[in-house]
Amino acid sequence: MFCIMHKTFGVERRDIMRYITIALAKGRLVQSAMEVFEHIGITCEELKDKSSRKLIFVNDELKLKFFLAKANDVPTYVEYGAADIGIVGKDTILEEGRKLYEVVDMGFGKCRMCVAGPASAASLLQHGELIRVATKYPNIAKDYFYNKKHQTVEIIKLNGSVELAPIVGLAEVIVDIVETGSTLRENGLEVLEEICPISARMVVNEVSMKMEYARINTMINALKEHLHGTKQKNS
Ligand code: PRP
Repeated sequence: MFCIMHKTFGVERRDIMRYITIALAKGRLVQSAMEVFEHIGITCEELKDKSSRKLIFVNDELKLKFFLAKANDVPTYVEYGAADIGIVGKDTILEEGRKLYEVVDMGFGKCRMCVAGPASAASLLQHGELIRVATKYPNIAKDYFYNKKHQTVEIIKLNGSVELAPIVGLAEVIVDIVETGSTLRENGLEVLEEICPISARMVVNEVSMKMEYARINTMINALKEHLHGTKQKNS
């Protein structure tokens, strides 16, 4: 059978290869993800067309498909194998608790998962008071308060603009991501405790990792090599 060799991803029989599907968390991570991918020779021209309403973007030459999904759904697509690979924040990975391999810290989307609130709420945390915690991340908040701090709290799930909660009296504190800190500052709130650092990660479906080991592992190694070089340059 006629086949074309491809030098970058160890692809030897491109004509009979299946497409590898990559799910990207919609929003601010997409551009950074594609910039990092571009450095290791993975591009997708179709994805650059911002006016497009298409859901699936294809690079036929590399036999890759990309799709944009709501961040919370990316681990679901990957666990079920509808996507072989996902690029998504560590916050979402922790919150969703799906079965998948987390293989590369992509080095962008850096922020911190924090407990925040008005300065006056600090003592409520120190004395283990029964407080209300508003958050988009109920599982992360539960794990932190119940398993790490051993503090009984009431968790209230919200879907956004969580900073409102302590201001209008819905909760004493919030658990949320803090990037620049300006949303907290502009609303008279501050970081009270840090839970963990967050950044975008590459995740892989467990079966795909075995079935497409050569291609996926080549991709992982290329990413790690590139990111390691970038880190050294910046240090
Ligand atoms: C996120 C997060 C904080 C804000 C933190 O919200 O939930 O509100 O960004 O960023 P900063 O520290 O740089 O101010 P997002 O913009 O995703 O909107 P949402 O609150 O509606 O989810």
